[in-house]
Amino acid sequence: MSRVLQLHGGDGGGDGTATTGRGSNAMLLRSSSVVEQKLQFSTRPMTVAFKDLSFTVMVKPNTYPAAKAGDKAPAPAASASASASASIDVDAGAAAAPAPRGKKQLLVEKKILKGVTGSFESARFTAIMGASGAGKTSLLNVLAGEVAAGTVDGTVSVNGQSIDPGRIMRRIAGFVFQDDIILGTMTVREAITMSALLRLPRSLSLETKMTRVDIVIQLLRLDKCADTLIGSAHVKGVSGGERKRTAVAMEMITNPSILFCDEPTSGLDAFSAFSLCQTLKSLADAGCTVVATIHQPSSEVYHMFDELLLLADGRVMYMGELEYAVEYFGARGFSCPRYTNPADYFFMSILNDATHSVFVEDAEQEEKVKEEQEEEGKNVIVAPNPLPVPMDLDAVADFLLRDATETGSYHSAMEDIVTKQESPINEKADVRVQRLLNLWPTSEQSAFIKNRADNPAHTDGVKSTDLKVGASFSTQFMFLGGRAFKNALRNRFMVRARLGQTVFLGLLVGLIFLQIGDDQASVQNRTGALFFVATNIIMTGTMGTMTVFSTEKNVFLREFSSRYYKLFPYFASKILVELPFNIFFPFLYVAILYFLIGFQATATKFFIMAFTTVLLANCGAAFGLLVGSMTSDLTVAMASVPMILLPLIIFSGLLLNLDDTPYEFYWAPYISPVRYAYGAFLNNEMDGLVFTCTLPNGMEHRGLGCPNPTGEAVVRNLSFHTLSVLENCIILICIWVVLLGIGYTCLYRGSRRPSGARMLSRARSSSTATE
Ligand SMILES: Nc1ncnc2c1ncn2[C@@H]1O[C@H](COP(=O)(O)OP(=O)(O)O)[C@@H](O)[C@H]1O
Ligand SMILES: [Mg+2]
Repeated sequence: MSRVLQLHGGDGGGDGTATTGRGSNAMLLRSSSVVEQKLQFSTRPMTVAFKDLSFTVMVKPNTYPAAKAGDKAPAPAASASASASASIDVDAGAAAAPAPRGKKQLLVEKKILKGVTGSFESARFTAIMGASGAGKTSLLNVLAGEVAAGTVDGTVSVNGQSIDPGRIMRRIAGFVFQDDIILGTMTVREAITMSALLRLPRSLSLETKMTRVDIVIQLLRLDKCADTLIGSAHVKGVSGGERKRTAVAMEMITNPSILFCDEPTSGLDAFSAFSLCQTLKSLADAGCTVVATIHQPSSEVYHMFDELLLLADGRVMYMGELEYAVEYFGARGFSCPRYTNPADYFFMSILNDATHSVFVEDAEQEEKVKEEQEEEGKNVIVAPNPLPVPMDLDAVADFLLRDATETGSYHSAMEDIVTKQESPINEKADVRVQRLLNLWPTSEQSAFIKNRADNPAHTDGVKSTDLKVGASFSTQFMFLGGRAFKNALRNRFMVRARLGQTVFLGLLVGLIFLQIGDDQASVQNRTGALFFVATNIIMTGTMGTMTVFSTEKNVFLREFSSRYYKLFPYFASKILVELPFNIFFPFLYVAILYFLIGFQATATKFFIMAFTTVLLANCGAAFGLLVGSMTSDLTVAMASVPMILLPLIIFSGLLLNLDDTPYEFYWAPYISPVRYAYGAFLNNEMDGLVFTCTLPNGMEHRGLGCPNPTGEAVVRNLSFHTLSVLENCIILICIWVVLLGIGYTCLYRGSRRPSGARMLSRARSSSTATE
């Protein structure tokens, strides 16, 4: 079955159930008409069921002070002020049990999800709510197969077929993560276009794809910032809310049957949040399974949801129809007062102690004032403080009226409310939360949800047509190449910095070694100048690429896991686009210093030196890419580069004669690109040189008889005569290719699904998906 969505930006929305919230919805809806065009989405209904999902990570006990080995996990009631729902305690048993051996002995288990069962239905907008730290993001990450570390247990199925989330879910569902990572040098429109070009079916024409981009931009109210850069820490770009909406747009445009959004409305103003949820609701109305974690929804937004999943402490407190939630909690002694946003009530009065403590504080304050005034002999009426939201206003009004009539004072009525109210709302939050969590598994509603998860509405499994197929290799390559080139150019700071660095260092070296001459001192100066050029080129090449790639790597990982493209087109386009820069800057560098220093002035010798410098710069870049691929921490990368490069520089043949390399390190010069580049430099420059010297009798002399008579003699003394210029260059090319190969492998390994996801897939080894 496929349904067609007609998104009218502004006038979709609620199903018309009459509440005050809905009334204002309608007004807002009319005033926010955005798009009149039709956006044809066809989705297949999909039910996502998950059973007994648990997610456990190993953490250092000192992160959670109370959970030392042997300790009981802290009783939740220990801290009255803490939000119980927000604290996830290290599992007591696991904390006490010593881990097998080695480093793991220092770690304790922390259960983040504790057997979550439920299902998300097609054509329904499900909201996941819960205090911060309740496990909402973890649940979405587990469903997306995106857990970096830890053990995942349980089953996930789509339309009745067990799946490995990491392998299948990412190919059928769209995910908007809490931390949206988008390349900062793209504009909003380019980011959405990228998603359309790389992830929409190949069968759609380019024109259709671009039309969709325009419509989605309008739907998500991104028209004003469509051509603004996304921005980064260094470059100011769009606002947080616009960025979030761009992330939603990038998923929405792919027409997913299932859409998961982690806090899509955080950072948005009330109206933007409302209109975004309205768009999500329209998607759900068109048949999409929409799941979103939402923090503090306004009452208008709250009433847009179809279903609610309330999480606390990694467990389900309620799941099911939104409308039924109020009744469910009401039946357990937590009646949501009239005219109160149920979402506020859940957060403030069930999950936390806000109401209770405010009341107690107010009562104490009033008592104090009263005592003071009685002492002073005054007889005054103390007006109650403003009422906290979740109180039943009708009841309060009744009390006040009755009390005021009978006693002439408002005060005793307030005291009554505060002290005599025997609702379970007066329990400590943590006790209350635990009680409600324990009530859930035995409730009829829970049985209903379990049954729904066991017997999904659709049982036709996942079909090969459901799996997103990326764009062709050539499209990916062309797009990524174009983007990388624009990125490099837009990264103006980087380009200017490199240009400045090249010109500055070129001039500096040129002026220091200005017109080097051919006397005996020039021998040392020549070897020194060439050595400096080699070390400088490898260092700048490595550092430049590594810092740029480290910042880009997270973008790559996110896009790669969202199946925008494959690794090879990305890697190839990256190398190809960097190549012109890695040719131009080293060439410029040599061009500046070569004639200033006064190396042998022949075109061949100049171009050989420039060519070798370019090769070495590319080896440096490949090495930078390799280090960047191995670690995502720039500090670690910065620290490890000198650790590896400096020994390679020591073994490059000038500081230590190649023939004197200690036996244990005999291999080191063989892997040092600096050695081969330096070898090529020396052979090239020294070839054909005859040096002058002053004889003891004061006569000027050339060649034989001088301590260093010729260039060849110098090369021989330094033990660089074994390899010719050509041989050195060929080896440099080989090193470049090998470094690229290792870098590619590291990136491939780093981008594979994380261990947690693999564990789940192993547990599900019996499951097969139609691929
Ligand atoms: N990989 C992890 N290692 C340690 N703690 C984690 C990890 N992932 C999540 N947590 C913890 O689990 C709890 C739930 O996190 P999360 O799912 O992000 O909550 P939220 O409901 O706010 O989205 C938090 O206390 C968080 O610190
Ligand atoms: Mg979260």
